[in-house]
Order: sequence, then C-alpha cells, then structure tokens
Amino acid sequence: LMADSLFIINNYAREYFTDTLFNKEEGQNVGLSYFEERGFTEETIKKFQLGYCLNTFDAFAKSALDKGYNLEYLQKTGLVTIRNEQPADNYRGRVIFPIHNQSGKILGFGARILVKSDRAPKYINSPENEIYIKSRVLYGTYFARHAIDKLDECLLVEGYTDVISLHQAGVENVVASSGTSLTQDQLRLIKKYTKNLTILYDGDSAGVKAALRGLDMAIEEGLNVKLVLLPDKEDPDSYVQKIGAEAFREFIKENKQDFVLFKLHLSMQEVGTDSNKKSQLVNEIAETISKIDKAEDFTRQQDYIRQCSQLLHIDEQGLIQLVNKFIR
Ligand code: UTP
Ligand code: MN
Ligand code: MN
Ligand code: MN
Ligand code: MN
Repeated sequence: LMADSLFIINNYAREYFTDTLFNKEEGQNVGLSYFEERGFTEETIKKFQLGYCLNTFDAFAKSALDKGYNLEYLQKTGLVTIRNEQPADNYRGRVIFPIHNQSGKILGFGARILVKSDRAPKYINSPENEIYIKSRVLYGTYFARHAIDKLDECLLVEGYTDVISLHQAGVENVVASSGTSLTQDQLRLIKKYTKNLTILYDGDSAGVKAALRGLDMAIEEGLNVKLVLLPDKEDPDSYVQKIGAEAFREFIKENKQDFVLFKLHLSMQEVGTDSNKKSQLVNEIAETISKIDKAEDFTRQQDYIRQCSQLLHIDEQGLIQLVNKFIR
C-alpha cells in the first residue's frame, strides 16, 4: 500500500535525522547547538524526535536510495526533490520536527532554517500526500492526548516550538494548528478528547484575527472556547522561556477569558456610538450564541444571552427572540 510505504520512508528519515543530530559532527555542532540555544533539553529533543538534515546536496537521498526506497515515493514525502535532474535533499541544513499522528507514526516533517533569511521560507513542511492531510492534523496530539483527557482541556498554539517548550515547562495538554487557520476537522479531533478549548495566540492583531476566525466554527462544533492573549511580540515558546514554567502557568490562569465575551468587547470598541453598526453587532452576537447547541448546553446559552444583553444594554427578551431566529 502507498500509505504504508510513505510511513516506512518517514520512519527511516526520522531515524536518519536523529542519528545525524546526535552522532554526526555537523549535527552536533549545528543542529544540537541550535536546539540547546533555544533552551530545549536533551530529554525534550529525544521525546519529540527532533533531528537535523546535513547541509549536503544528497546525503539523505543517497542513503535512502541505497536502502532500496523508491524515488517516486521519496518525492511524495517531500524528503527528496529533483534538482538539476538529480535526486536532492529538500531539507538540507535545516533542523527537523517530525509530525506524529495520534498513535505516534510519522505523517510528515517541518524543517526549520537555522538563520532567518529573505530568500528562503522559515519552515518547509511536507507536501500533502496520502498520509499527510494538513487540514486534519494538529501537531502534538500524540504527546498531548492523555493530558488533554485528564485535564479536560486542550490548549491551542500556533507553532511546533510552542508545543515543545510548553511540554518542557510541564504544560502537556497542548497542540498546534501549525500556522494555518483552524479547520472543522481539527476541531473535531479536539472534541474527541475534550469540549474545552483554550486558544493561546500572539497578542498582535494578526494573532487576534486568526483566533477570531476559528471562533464561530469552534462553537458550532460544540466547544467551549476560552482565549489567552500573550504580550505583544511574544509567542508561548518565547514567553515561557523568558518568564519560566511556574510564572507562565500562573499567567494562563490569570488571563484566561471567555472568547464570546472577548469578541463582544472588541466589537463594541469598534462600533462606538454608531447605531447601524450596533444593530449589526447585535445580529452577529445573536448568531454566534445561536450556534451553541441548546440541547447540549442550555445554561451556557442562557448565560451568554444574559451577559451579552447587559453588556450591549439591550433587552434580554429581545435578544432571545433574535437568537431563536437563527435557530432552525
Ligand atoms: P511562527 O512564524 O510563529 O513560527 O509560525 P514559530 O512556530 O514561532 O517558530 P520559531 O519559534 O520562529 O522557530 C507558526 C507556525 O506556522 C508554520 C509553522 O508550523 C510554525 O510553527 N509556519 C511558519 C510555516 O509552516 N512556514 C513558515 O515559513 C512559517
Ligand atoms: Mn475527555
Ligand atoms: Mn504573530
Ligand atoms: Mn510563533
Ligand atoms: Mn516562536
């Protein structure tokens, strides 16, 4: 089967890249020191099976072809590409983040450049193929699933290194959307483990916008959504490395807010005293509230109606009627 072949190749590559990281001089000097400079311990590096791809034209490709792996399949995984009509390493000179499925098999890789450059992307990710379908994957589920289940909450971050640094800080119920906006499939995956989703995004406007895009979808999926905004210019990785594990956990606890109410506050600032805009906002909020499954979460819907009507200075019965108009 095609899928099996791709899993086997990815597993071979994962072993090859971790071996390079720990046992080859360039791996140690370049890859391992990069991770160490970022504050990752050896235990963390091993747990997440991080690796390094030598900065050569085709060391990995040659080794894989020597092993007898099929060139066409190697290309499908994105590990090997054709350059000057020759099989070449696609991730050369980059550190490697394997992306695991829920049972620990490798779906693909993220490969990070060591020094940011205008000429090359920061991360190269595996292309979509039979086993790696980006919209269905959340980075870190394999490592987070037990903690999510136990704590009955899933934290959502943007990047690979956010997941890794939080684990190292003892926060293990965390997965990453890997920079894309959330999809319905990803939300369903979360809901298999818990109904409580807490989004940890950058405090900048791009981070807020990205978080807002996922909100209605998450509510429609039946999730209870909270938000933690990080200080400007920080992501969970940089912030936890800066302030330490205990302070970070405290920060999350102190700054967790309900996402629907956050959205309302934000929109009210934009609306100001414009009455047209206000009635539009009332409609939007009613629609959001209508998406909470009444049968499943009647009290939560009622709480929102009460709180939102108070905040908006509108009649509670009027809001109930409006909400009901959106429910068919
Ligand atoms: P960020 O730019 O926030 O990167 O993108 P990061 O995770 O903080 O990485 P470091 O700390 O600089 O190493 C968030 C996520 O978006 C995806 C990756 O999954 C990344 O973790 N991304 C970002 C890409 O796929 N390609 C890119 O070029 C950049
Ligand atoms: Mn559960
Ligand atoms: Mn940002
Ligand atoms: Mn980031
Ligand atoms: Mn970062």
